[in-house]
Amino acid sequence: MRAVVPSDPRGIRRPPLNFDAPAHTPFRRALDRTLHPARLARIEPMLREHAAREIGPLLAAGGGDVCRSFGTNYPAFVVAEWLNLERDDVHRLAATASTWVDAWRRQDAELVTRKSEEMYAMARALVTDRKARPRPPETDPASSLLAERPDGEPLPEELVVGALRQSLVVGMVAPPILLGGICVHLARDRALQQRLREHPELLPAAFEEFVRLYTPYRGFARTASRPVELHGRAIESGVPVTLVYASANRDETVFPDPDEFRLDRPNIGRHLGFGRGRHQCVGMGLARLSLRIALEELLRRTSDIELAGEIETTRMPEVGAQGVPLRVTPAIL
Ligand code: HEM
Repeated sequence: MRAVVPSDPRGIRRPPLNFDAPAHTPFRRALDRTLHPARLARIEPMLREHAAREIGPLLAAGGGDVCRSFGTNYPAFVVAEWLNLERDDVHRLAATASTWVDAWRRQDAELVTRKSEEMYAMARALVTDRKARPRPPETDPASSLLAERPDGEPLPEELVVGALRQSLVVGMVAPPILLGGICVHLARDRALQQRLREHPELLPAAFEEFVRLYTPYRGFARTASRPVELHGRAIESGVPVTLVYASANRDETVFPDPDEFRLDRPNIGRHLGFGRGRHQCVGMGLARLSLRIALEELLRRTSDIELAGEIETTRMPEVGAQGVPLRVTPAIL
């Protein structure tokens, strides 16, 4: 199956994203187990601490590039809580993953490979540690993957490492772009900014509408497993089809006035920002929780957010902002 557009030129396929069922199932089950609402509720206070601390430098400096500061550093702590990384590894993850993402966008193959290897080394170290000292599968993704026994056998170790390597990255790519897009929107719509500041209870609904409008993953692909006809087009078996989630989310036949921000869309649940079906984002609950907290802290700790320069846009495979210079006025708390 081809899942990512463009797909890895080296042909590397890591589970769960690049695997089809039934091979996909045990990897997905193992990760799902670690992201249940009860676990998310347990880590919520830690996420709030991380957000409050990691937003500090932006506030102290009166602004800065929100994507490359708070937007990159805070998600590293979120991923670290999920995977139970050591504190020393968090800053390494933030630096390595963001360099990898930038190198991927510039198609710098040598740097992509080097940074990818560093993340493989982190994933391998996790596997070695959890083999020696297993933790409860419900709260530790590496232990959960190692505990899987499809057909009575453990999952191949190199694929467990691959799934963890993918896990290190997936939670780092979309959040800075989405947060950047949301900040641009809020800076341009001061009334909405103030409304959400005064009514944080509106943030979950606002977040879904922001995901629809600023869908960070342009799209993924599927391969037709049999001949099929879609909207009058015949698709042969074995042909990869790109699904452009960002475009679907602005389909005017589904979302009237698609470029408008609206808090009361009755069908907002139909947006494709987290995908759909078997590969729907496994980290959706964690992404919603962690970014709602990020927005709460950002709005609570500021009295105004303004744009302070040019927005830098991303390239394939993402869409949105990768650099958003802000001027922030800290709130008196
Ligand atoms: C704003 C944040 C995020 C967005 C917009 C997002 C979006 C997506 C989308 C659209 C897919 C579907 C891919 C497809 O259709 O083939 C996906 C898959 C996935 N996401 Fe996320 N994601 C986010 C955050 C996260 C986080 C925080 C994690 C980790 C906890 C995560 C882990 C994954 C994994 C492992 C998959 C592959 C699932 C599978 O193939 O079964 N994502 N994500």
